[in-house]
Amino acid sequence: MTAKTFYLETFGCQMNAHDSEKVVGTLLHQGYRQVDAPEAAELVLYNTCSIRDKAEQKVFNRLQQFKRQAGKGKVFGVLGCVAQQEGERIFEKAPHVSLVAGSASYTKLPEMLVQLEAGNRRVTGLSLDTEETFETPFTRRDNPHRAYITIIEGCDKSCAYCVVPFTRGPERSRAGAGVIEEARGLAAAGYTEIQLLGQNVNSYRDPSPTGWDFATLLARVGEIPGIRRVRFTTSHPRDFGKDIVDAIDANPVLCNHVHLPVQSGSSSVLQLMDRSYTRDEYLRRIEWLKKARRNIAITTDIIVGFPGETEADFRQTLDLLDEVEYDSLFSFKYSPRPNTAALAMGDQIPEAEKTLRLMILVEKQRAIQIRRNSELIGCVEEVLVEGRHEALGQWIGRTAQNRTLNFTGGGEALVGRYLPVRVTRAGPNSLVGEAVV
Ligand code: 5AD
Ligand code: SF4
Repeated sequence: MTAKTFYLETFGCQMNAHDSEKVVGTLLHQGYRQVDAPEAAELVLYNTCSIRDKAEQKVFNRLQQFKRQAGKGKVFGVLGCVAQQEGERIFEKAPHVSLVAGSASYTKLPEMLVQLEAGNRRVTGLSLDTEETFETPFTRRDNPHRAYITIIEGCDKSCAYCVVPFTRGPERSRAGAGVIEEARGLAAAGYTEIQLLGQNVNSYRDPSPTGWDFATLLARVGEIPGIRRVRFTTSHPRDFGKDIVDAIDANPVLCNHVHLPVQSGSSSVLQLMDRSYTRDEYLRRIEWLKKARRNIAITTDIIVGFPGETEADFRQTLDLLDEVEYDSLFSFKYSPRPNTAALAMGDQIPEAEKTLRLMILVEKQRAIQIRRNSELIGCVEEVLVEGRHEALGQWIGRTAQNRTLNFTGGGEALVGRYLPVRVTRAGPNSLVGEAVV
């Protein structure tokens, strides 16, 4: 008998990317074979994101594209955040879909597959009240050097713009011992970089009697022999404690990079967003990071055009950029989302104004990044060699601060190794250098 085939496309954040690694592992264990084109698959899965409307529309475009192939032995499934958000409505919007399952239900995937194989055309996994986290010994990791480990799932915050509490459910932390065991196993298997994942890693709390907080867990993972780099994402400023900065200072294995989404530089917008910190409280955390012994890179997320954001509010965000001098930033136009508190505020800022604010923000940040990256010219940075950029004729490296540093003087045998590279040129988004031999 030939194996059943599946195709999986992933949208969205690292949590989703890692969920997909677990889903792939589960499917392989169930006797499925992965193919790289939807045309060749009996089971076509989309692991979806609904953080902004644009992200959500992608899955419906995909489903539309392959509609005619439904039936004839082909089954479609929608996983992830759009699945959880839209639930059974997906069957109405796209009647050729047979499986709709949110991330809190993935532990039941094997049972859902059995139902699909039995010919059931409406299989759902939409429960959010699960206490469990999705763990499987079968995870099929995409990257041979860097491994994601989920430490906390869901989110208990109530940011007015955000779908995540509705799509990923309440916070559930994994037992610390299990995290350490997984990280040790990964080190033994040759992984050297660990990335701890959660929507809000700072509110991690070990459910076992040891009761570790996040800084303790981070420090413990950093002590595992064979692990050269530990990263974590994402942090919420309110729960971001100085103990995390101290942990980074104490152990060079913990990467000197913190992603600390601010969302807005205006305290009144932050209040409308229900972020539970003010601009000054945020800046206090930035001060801890800047006063650290190590040079810690700081990156952030910003939303422009949130309902009620005045020009003066926006200028405060621009001003914050100058004050913090972020090493990198992700910026977004506000997108109204179902179920969220901000939905009732309407979409007050016209699209053209949002576009303008985004452009101004991006331009300002570009200049900051050119300036910050240029300061590194002449310095030697250690990179993890990730591969080859054929078009540029360079090797791809990543620094501990999470900068891309492409370089000459590498070699195939160095992929996955750590190498000192001297920075020779700097652009807004990456550095260029030469391997130090
Ligand atoms: N509209 C625009 N951006 C959003 N984000 C989250 N929700 C929205 C929304 N409704 C952004 C935030 C978050 C990042 C992952 O996506 O900046 O930190
Ligand atoms: Fe998208 Fe948020 Fe879901 Fe990640 S958690 S896939 S960013 S909606």
